Amino acid sequence: MKIFKSKSDLKSYISLKKEEGNSIGFVPTMGALHKGHLSLVKRAIKKNDVTIVSIFVNPTQFDKKEDLDNYPKTFEKDVELLKSVNCDAVFVPAVNEIYGDNVNSEAFDFDGLEHQMEGKFRDGHFDGVGTIVKALFEIVAPNVAYFGKKDFQQLQIIKKMVEKLNLPIRIKGMPIFREKDGLAMSSRNTRLTPEHREAAPFIHKTLKKARKKIGTKNVTEITKWVENQFKKHPLLELEYFIIAEEKTLQTAENFDATKRYRAFIAVFAGEIRLIDNVRFKNN
Ligand code: PAJ
Repeated sequence: MKIFKSKSDLKSYISLKKEEGNSIGFVPTMGALHKGHLSLVKRAIKKNDVTIVSIFVNPTQFDKKEDLDNYPKTFEKDVELLKSVNCDAVFVPAVNEIYGDNVNSEAFDFDGLEHQMEGKFRDGHFDGVGTIVKALFEIVAPNVAYFGKKDFQQLQIIKKMVEKLNLPIRIKGMPIFREKDGLAMSSRNTRLTPEHREAAPFIHKTLKKARKKIGTKNVTEITKWVENQFKKHPLLELEYFIIAEEKTLQTAENFDATKRYRAFIAVFAGEIRLIDNVRFKNN
């Protein structure tokens, strides 16, 4: 597996591969790789001739400095994992290779998608995500890029960016990969205390129970019910629970049979902020 630190070296490698007629699959990550990331990489490998993974802890998408500083870094292990699935190349740029001296994000208009949920609670987050993904897309110019539904709002925002900038890249959304107990895999899970790790599956369990109430309870009642479950919980603090329409991410008022809905949640388990979501339909 090739390891690139310089964007010009990576670009030359990709140009050559494209000239030879190869399709390029791309999986952007911030490292600390787990099976969720690997499910994206494996799909990219299956569907494309050449697969590139980027590992870059993007400073402009963190609203809290301590979160950026504490973001887990497991580079050697990441490389081993990527080798084990036969990934072709990994791009690991330094911050100045991407940003030069100007570590700032561009301001984006994602038609309002950026003002919901994560955008409300993490100031500037999606401008940071847009900036880095746009920069990486310019360097890698993949045919297909893979994103997890774990970060469903991010997935919708990237689709919107590609549409607005008219980029010839297909964005593929991939299912959420979970631990056996239902906790959505996340690089942040390794930072949970043992007590919080044990408590955390409650998040997905509550989402599933909430989903069962469709048909007998309305949006407000389900939302109240979830809020109450967390009020009673000694270790987990709810930041938000929202049932939203998938396309616009606008909070649902009622269930309209012609639209698709999803329930989104953010919870603090001690210091660690966890997010999850489930498709919200009646089965
Ligand atoms: P990161 O959190 O490392 O995630 C990289 C990709 O893996 C994202 O598309 C994310 O949705 C996906 N992913 C994470 N956990 C997953 C899980 N349990 N199941 C399925 N997919 C999962 O998301 C980012 O990095 C960054 O914002 C990035 C897009 C790289 C821009 O910096």
